[in-house]
Amino acid sequence: MRILVTAGPTREPIDPVRYIGNRSSGKMGLALIQSAIAAAHQVTAILGPLSIVLPAQMRRVDVETSAQMLEAVIREFSSHDALIMAAAVADYRPVAASAAKIARGGSRTLELEATADILAAAGRSKRPDQRTIGFSLESTPDSARVRDKLWQKKLDLIVYNPLETISSDSIQATLFYADGREEKLPSRPKGEFADILIQRVAGLF
Ligand code: CTP
Repeated sequence: MRILVTAGPTREPIDPVRYIGNRSSGKMGLALIQSAIAAAHQVTAILGPLSIVLPAQMRRVDVETSAQMLEAVIREFSSHDALIMAAAVADYRPVAASAAKIARGGSRTLELEATADILAAAGRSKRPDQRTIGFSLESTPDSARVRDKLWQKKLDLIVYNPLETISSDSIQATLFYADGREEKLPSRPKGEFADILIQRVAGLF
């Protein structure tokens, strides 16, 4: 398979030195990339700013903002079989970034607008021979909400994981499939989970 993986956070500039971003270690994305390479798949990774070392046996596209990630995903997706969106995309960005550094003083209000939903955009352009896989990080377990995301973003599979997954080395995930199946996996290291997820993605074809 040719697998497109996104990983890491995005940064939405406020001014030349400040940004809005999500907490994301990129560990899940890295584990998925390693598992996909180990299973002899061809991997393209679209990466937000990350400080971890990544394997050399993949094509790598570096981005910073959600708009750049959207553009890269739309450009690359057509030449891949599956998209796994493990990136922690910022949901909001400043309406206008300041060209100059904003000086401190007084209180400030920042006007934000929603970023484009990258998975939903890929879902809309998906061919019948392509699969899209997303993650859903929720503070409270709510399978109806996770299923909603699956349908709204036209996904084939969504991985629900609780908030504790951020920065952790392990993950306790439940997989929700478009055909209605639900698979609860016990807590395990992200590397082992990634091997299973890559197998499940291969099973979607
Ligand atoms: N995602 C995306 N584009 C965005 C935001 C999120 O493609 N602008 C992807 C993430 O990479 C993840 C999935 O959508 O795979 C779910 O992200 P999540 O933040 O849980 O869902 P949202 O649709 O943003 O819903 P909400 O914030 O209401 O939970």
